[in-house]
Order: sequence, then structure tokens, then C-alpha cells
Amino acid sequence: MGWFSADIETMDDLFLHTLQDIYYAENRIEKSLPDMIAKASDSELKKGFQAHLKQTRGQIRRLDQVFKKLKQEPKGTKCPAIDGIIDEANDIAADVADKTVLNAALIGAAQAVEHYEITRYGTLAAWAKLLGKNDVARLIAANLKEEKATDKKLSSIAKRKVNKKALARSTKRKANGAARDENRYMQAMAGVPAI
Ligand SMILES: [Fe+2]
Ligand SMILES: [Fe+2]
Repeated sequence: MGWFSADIETMDDLFLHTLQDIYYAENRIEKSLPDMIAKASDSELKKGFQAHLKQTRGQIRRLDQVFKKLKQEPKGTKCPAIDGIIDEANDIAADVADKTVLNAALIGAAQAVEHYEITRYGTLAAWAKLLGKNDVARLIAANLKEEKATDKKLSSIAKRKVNKKALARSTKRKANGAARDENRYMQAMAGVPAI
């Protein structure tokens, strides 16, 4: 079912479609987090991803409850947005050779995922209230709160150390590169072939 296709006529249909969208997204995130845990070399970041994997499983259970309250079978609908965010994250992670820079890249990618989830849950919470489904709105709000907290935690890890370490490594590399260039130049001037 595509966005705004003839299958979506009412706000209830739109709510269900968006619920299926985030259900697909959460399941895709659950499958990709183990890979991010494996790639993270900062211990706090690794633990943060592990905690979020556990939390994600709890969020999927909450969504199961939402489906149940709506008397619907839990199922996902393909979400090209989360597929794109996760595919791009995998591509970037594969291209980063330095471990410290990779930690910064992983945080950037994870925050793109969190922001996607925040926008979906924010919309679903508003629509649930609009439709008078307050018990559903509470379950959605619980997921939204966790995503916002995760986003904040990732910002904190990035700002406190990961970004600084990544920058320090880049600065050191640049300095080493400059020293190597200067050495080559001095050798060339002295007529010594550079190795
Ligand atoms: Fe989530
Ligand atoms: Fe999340």
C-alpha cells in the first residue's frame, strides 16, 4: 500500500498505515543494531546501543499491544525511508577505516534513525489523541519518550568524547602527513631519494 493510495480513506486508515510503517522500521532497526554494537569501539557507545536494542524489543511489544487494541494483526508495511537511512549508514560505516572516526559516524547514523522514529511517533501520538484512542496514545508516547532520551544520550556521548577523539585522530593524521611531506621535501632538496 503506497502513501495516499486509494486504500487510505479515513484517519483510522492513515493511522493504521503509519503504525505499520513504524512497525516495519522498528523490526529493521532491531536487525541492524547488533551490527552497530559490533562496530562501535567506544565502550559507552557499545553499551548504549546494547541498551537500545533491548529497548527496541520492548517498543515492538508495545506496538503489538497497539495492534491488539485496534483489533488488527501486527504487521509491517515496507518503509523506504528507514531502508534508505539504514542502507546509507551501512555504506558510510563500510567506508570509514579509522575506529574513532567510525564511532562518530555510527552516532550520526543512529541519530538519523532516532529522528525518523521521533517524527513517526510524534505524528502517531497526535493522531491517536485526535481519534480518541487515549490508551493507544499512551503506548505511543512511551516509545516516543525513549527515542527522545536515546537521541539525547547519543548527543551527550558524541559531545563529551567521541567527536573530540575523532577530531584528535584526524589532527594527528594531518600532522603526521605534513611531517612526512616535509621530510620528503628535505630529502629531495638534499638529493636523497624519498622512500
Ligand atoms: Fe525504536
Ligand atoms: Fe530508537
